Amino acid sequence: MKPNITPNDTEHTLNADDFIVSKTDPKGRILYCNRIFMRLAGYKEAELLGKQHNIIRHPDMPRTVFQLLWDTVQKGEEFFGYIKNLSRDGGFYWVFANVTPSYDPQGQLVGYYSVRRKPEAKALDVITPLYGEMLAAEKAAGPKQAMEAAKKILHQRLSATGTTYEHFVLEI
Ligand SMILES: Cc1cc2nc3c(=O)[nH]c(=O)nc-3n(C[C@H](O)[C@H](O)[C@H](O)COP(=O)(O)O)c2cc1C
Repeated sequence: MKPNITPNDTEHTLNADDFIVSKTDPKGRILYCNRIFMRLAGYKEAELLGKQHNIIRHPDMPRTVFQLLWDTVQKGEEFFGYIKNLSRDGGFYWVFANVTPSYDPQGQLVGYYSVRRKPEAKALDVITPLYGEMLAAEKAAGPKQAMEAAKKILHQRLSATGTTYEHFVLEI
């Protein structure tokens, strides 16, 4: 069960040399997380192991970004992106995330691995309003058309700069 948390405006920040690490099984259930993950998210290890990674999902995040994350890693590629996460105390923390698939020696998928670091403030100046627009479009379009509506905004933004989401996030 996902805890019922009311989000607030308290920001938790990472230090420049902090790396938040987690590993999941192929379904996104947490198999490992490091201490910095536990500190920022506000949970003990036993409360996180076996739980879905959406335990830290923040309601300000557009669903479309997670769809892009899963589509990318399920294709066997690595994902880079900005994510706003929800802490147990209702606060939030922004990360720049890299998610990669992990394979066993036989080439079978064993799960996913994610390392996150502190995002640049100037990147968040670009991402925060963009995600705000995408979220508003998802809400206005309703559940069935949500992804399409938010993707349209993202693609407009990307075609204006002539790039992919990956290059966009790596460049801002
Ligand atoms: C390795 C890995 C790391 C992830 N990291 C996060 C994360 O930091 N925050 C987050 O909200 N979702 C993360 N996700 C995505 C979640 O599994 C989930 O798709 C997302 O929270 C959206 O929740 P929902 O699918 O229930 O809508 C991660 C997934 C994987 C496989």
